[in-house]
This record gives sequence, structure tokens and C-alpha cells, in this order.
Amino acid sequence: MASNISLYYKNVLSDVIGTEHGITKEQLKELGRQTGGAIKECNRQRKAGSIPYRDLPYNEEYPKQVKAAATDVKGCENFVVLGIGGSALGNIALQTALNPYMYNLDPAQRKGPRLFVFDNVDPVQLGSFLEWAGDKLDKTVFNVISKSGRTAETAAQFSIVCKMLTDKLGPDGCRRQVLATTDKRAGTLRKIADSAGLRTLEVPDGVGGRFSVLSPVGLLSAAVCGIDIDQLLAGARQMDEKVSREEFFANPAAINAAINWHFYNRGKHISVMMPYSYALKDLSDWYRQLWAESLGKSRDLNGREVFVGPTPVKALGTTDQHSQVQLYREGPNNKLFTFLQVKQFERDLAMGPAPDVAPELAYLSGRKMSQLLNSEKLATEYALLHDKRPCLTVLFDRIDPSCIGQFIYLFEVTTSIAGLLFGINAYDQPAVELGKEATFALMGHKDYSELAETIKPLAQVDPEFLA
Ligand code: PA5
Repeated sequence: MASNISLYYKNVLSDVIGTEHGITKEQLKELGRQTGGAIKECNRQRKAGSIPYRDLPYNEEYPKQVKAAATDVKGCENFVVLGIGGSALGNIALQTALNPYMYNLDPAQRKGPRLFVFDNVDPVQLGSFLEWAGDKLDKTVFNVISKSGRTAETAAQFSIVCKMLTDKLGPDGCRRQVLATTDKRAGTLRKIADSAGLRTLEVPDGVGGRFSVLSPVGLLSAAVCGIDIDQLLAGARQMDEKVSREEFFANPAAINAAINWHFYNRGKHISVMMPYSYALKDLSDWYRQLWAESLGKSRDLNGREVFVGPTPVKALGTTDQHSQVQLYREGPNNKLFTFLQVKQFERDLAMGPAPDVAPELAYLSGRKMSQLLNSEKLATEYALLHDKRPCLTVLFDRIDPSCIGQFIYLFEVTTSIAGLLFGINAYDQPAVELGKEATFALMGHKDYSELAETIKPLAQVDPEFLA
């Protein structure tokens, strides 16, 4: 049976939370008019080929190449992604959403190798893994993902892994156990891969990391771990039909973007995504990067200083009810909430009987855990609405590859339309560069010695200020 996601937006309206905080019907119509141009512009940019991520779900070559590569590594026991940012968050989100919680630990619950994604340079974390994997390297495949290959974190991990493979498996170790996903022609990793004879997949031209999950960047680890990537892409295509519609009220990405933009302009600068499903928790991590890197900009398209960008925050229901909801209800009314709710869970559990000594727990007895989870979502939403906090919900019929593909595409296009409403470039990330260059400088890169001198005073800890 076909499954869908939909955006429910009644609970941002003034009918529900009042005119001080809610959107009136007139304001919504006006938002529709204001967003009309952005929808058209987004469609125009797509036709002109300037936002190629929009066409990834239709690319027929990538799934073929990915499936061939997945077949090639079939039989490995561990599949390890080395990447960061857009070269890792989508992989993690797909795995958490579409494979069982115990995937890595229980062979009966998995259709592929164990999956590990390293998106950091923590020697304790990676060291522990390599200690465990040291005698299994011939059964371990490393997928190094980097468009540029210059990213310090990925380059560092890769150098350690390559040395270990060569030391333990011989000069051919790296070629046998590593698959690189990188730019088709240019860049440091492309050079390395070609000279070492590594198998490669491509990061598509013109697609930034945070928009690349539906390309070989995100698809390979998914396919290797038994996720139906055809259904994932079909879901994205299904959503494409909706988010391309010029009619505002028929276009969920336009409504989502417009509502987010409206609340930002009215001082609600924080956007909380709160899934009520553990499986969806890493999608909010993926969204956080997409939203922050795309919309957090100091200048608009005319070069004017604007310093805009909603701050994305991730939370998890019900866990964060016991951590964040006090603030969400009684703290400043400066947030828009987006819940993710699942109608039909893949499995369920019935609660046991209440102990005789605790009849006050009898209300749980025999009820389903999914009923409790969704009741708590509604209860939290009710409480937030009581305090006039606007709430959106993305409703999932269920969690399957099609719905996840729909969600990814919905939020990618929402980001594009929101970028147009904010009048900024949603596809660059100039502010990330300075930190990257400073890292090069601090690590002794010869091209950054001047910058290293500038940073030096900062590296001296001034004892006067040590408390
Ligand atoms: O979204 C982005 O563009 C970034 O998060 C990149 O994905 C990240 O910096 C990694 O870059 P690269 O793939 O070049 O290693």
C-alpha cells in the first residue's frame, strides 16, 4: 500500500493560538501571494540547471552504479563511512530511519554488513574502532566520502586507515578495501583515488554536501545495508510533483517555508524539530545542517548585510519532554515547533499488567506503546498550544523508504524556497571556510603560515583569566 507524508499546519494559526502569536487566515493568504514568486523562481532555477540536486531522484545511472558497487562489496562484514557534514549526516539518518535499532549487534536483524560512520576526528573513538577492526580488515570496506578531499577530518581519518590497511594487508590493502566517493574530475581525493587505483563513485557536480544524500554520497551505504534505494528515490519523485506546484496551498514545501519565514520575521528565531520516533531522530540532525548552513547568512543576494537565519534545534520525543519542555512552554515564545509523528509503527509492544501494589499504573495495562508515544506527542503539543506556541507536524503514514525519500525532498525544497524568501544564497557556506583555513594554519600547512601568526596570540592561555 502506498505510504505518504503530509504537513499539518493548523496549529500555527490564530484560530488555535490567538492573533498575538498565530497566523491569521488573511496573513496566510498574503504569505501565499508573497511566496508565489519564490516557487516560480525555484522551478525556474531547477529548469535552468542551477540547482541540480532537484534532479537526483531521476538520475538512472547513480542507482545502477551504486548497486554495482554494493554487489562488489557484498560479503564484507563491516562497512565504514569516513566523511563529515553533508558527507555523513544523510548516511546516518538513512541508517537510523530504515534499519533496526539492533542492526549492528544482531545478525538476524540485518541484511548487510555492520555500518559505522565516523564524522569526527576523535582519537579515542576511532582508536577504539580500529583496535576492534584490526584483525578484520580484510572483511572491512571503507567508503571515504569527500567532494574536495581537502577536508581535514576526512583526510586525517583516511590517512590513518590507509596506513593501517597497508601495514596489515600489504601494499594492495588500500586498493582492495577502500571505495572513494568524490568529485568526478577534480580535487585532492580524486587525485589520490586515481593514483592508488581505488574504486570510485561520484559526488555530482553542483550539488553541495547537504543536498547530496540522494546521490551516491548517501545511497551507497544505504544500498549496502539493504535499504531499498529505488523506493527512497521514488518517494522523492512523488514529493517533487507536490513541491513543484505553483499553487501555494497545494505545495507543502512552499507552505512550510512561508510559515518558517513568517515566524522568523516575528521574532521566533528558533526552529525545533522534534520527532516522536527514535528512527527519525537522526533526520533532525540532517535537517539541522541543511537549515543552518543554507539559511544562516550575513549578506543577502544584493550584498546587503542582513545576518539572518533561524537556529535549528533538535529534540526527541518523549525523551526531551523530561529535559526541554519546561523551557519550551514557559521560556521565551521565540520558537516554531515541527513534530514528526508516525501513524503506523512497524512493530508494537503491549504494556504488562500493573503490580497489585501499584493500581495507579493500571491505566497503562494492555495498552500499546505506540499509543503512549503518540498520546505524549499530542499531550506535548496541547500543552505548547495552551501557551500559544506554534506547532507544525509532519505526519508519516509509516517509516519506509518512500516516506523517508518524501521527507528528504520536502525539506530540501523547503530550504530552497526559504532561501529565496530570505533573499540569500542557500547553496554556499562561506563562513565555514575561515575555521577550515585556521585549522590548516594551526596544523602547519605551509600555505597558511601568515594566518598561523595571526592566530598565535589566541593560543596563549592568559593565566589572569583562568578561574
Ligand atoms: O554541506 C556541505 O557542503 C558541507 O557540510 C560538506 O559536506 C562538508 O564540509 C564536507 O566537505 P567534503 O565533502 O568536501 O569533504
